[in-house]
Amino acid sequence: MFTLFLPIILAHVIIKPMIKFPKDFLWGASTSAYQVEGNNSNTDWWEWERNRPGSALSGGACGHYQRFREDFDLAKSLGHNCHRLSLEWSRIQPGPERFCQEEINHYIQVIDHLRSLGIEPVVTLHHFTNPLWLSRIGGWENPKAAQYFLDYARKIVYLLAPKVKFWVTVNEPMVYTYYSYLTGEWPPQKKSRLLAWKVSDNLVEAHILSYRLIHSIYKKSGLGAPLVSIAQNMIAFLPCKKSPRNKLAAYLRNRLFNFRLIEDLIRKNSLDFIGMNYYTRHLIETRGWSFDELLTRNCREGHADLAKNSLGWEVYPQGLHDLLKVLKKYKLPVFILENGICCQDDEKRWDFIREHLKNIHAAMADQVPVIGYLYWSLLDNFEWDKGFAPRFGLCEVDYSDYKRTPRDSARKFAQVALTGLLE
Ligand code: FCB
Repeated sequence: MFTLFLPIILAHVIIKPMIKFPKDFLWGASTSAYQVEGNNSNTDWWEWERNRPGSALSGGACGHYQRFREDFDLAKSLGHNCHRLSLEWSRIQPGPERFCQEEINHYIQVIDHLRSLGIEPVVTLHHFTNPLWLSRIGGWENPKAAQYFLDYARKIVYLLAPKVKFWVTVNEPMVYTYYSYLTGEWPPQKKSRLLAWKVSDNLVEAHILSYRLIHSIYKKSGLGAPLVSIAQNMIAFLPCKKSPRNKLAAYLRNRLFNFRLIEDLIRKNSLDFIGMNYYTRHLIETRGWSFDELLTRNCREGHADLAKNSLGWEVYPQGLHDLLKVLKKYKLPVFILENGICCQDDEKRWDFIREHLKNIHAAMADQVPVIGYLYWSLLDNFEWDKGFAPRFGLCEVDYSDYKRTPRDSARKFAQVALTGLLE
């Protein structure tokens, strides 16, 4: 009897169950210009770093501006068929009425190189940094900011349209507004609810106008319709002890931070897919009903400690599944544009990727139309106000000579990207 079942038992032990992703799934990594290129000296961040005592300086960052070819060859060798990058607005438009042809040519070469490797580019127009000239006239507080953004978008989208299908207008508008205008941790370091409101409105306007512009350019040029979105950072918000008050606070944060903007943009017909960035969960409690109590207090009690990244963010893959399931009702493709971990121990990185991929797959089995997964990031890079210490890269960067070394996790991820199979 035992011998009869032996082959089946062995098959289960030897052949571990495999998870299979669709053939046309997009696999790759994300980067942003300021964090990898180096010497983006015409931006508000560059100036801010220099005026902030003890600040890390982005300097040459990863030297990617000069090394983009090698970096994308590396991505190709790691099985990637897609890459998200951002354009540095201040390079393309160094003055309100001035465009720089040399920099425009640079980005055309960047996209051409990706295309020549068969890597699908996902192009972000704004990833946190602003041209210095814009910040001098109030940055995103300026009522004309969206119009300036549109000038820049018009110029570059015309040229890149034949080579690009996926556009991300603004990266994480909520996060930008939160750190730059509510907590005041990022430039221009303001703390004002009124300004935060204004800035977020202007970012939304910039998205909607550029969404329409991009579509009209493709139409006029006789190109197939582009796919345009924002990158929305989503956090799994869970109540601490499950009191009705904490539940309400978690619910409100979820609505305000995760879904309000997406719903607004869908209502205004300006999202072709949902671009989602996911990293962690937050535990919420409130002791009162004021704005600050409801929207800013985090807690610890009532939940087991989870593994953390080197910045202390908890690893919570289940949250990705939960959020994806909520996104299902919008009936739009969902594209994971960022998901990653900074850590010293690379085994932790692979665990992180594998567990998040499992949750994505489970959501797909629940009919959530996820079309791709981009790990943050291809390279270790400049993590904003935290400097170079956090190591998010699939590839290690030695900042003394800019040498790139793919980590084990990069090779394991490559296996999944190449085969569509996850053990
Ligand atoms: C996201 C940002 C990205 C990077 C990761 C760690 O919020 O979009 O630039 O800093 O966090």
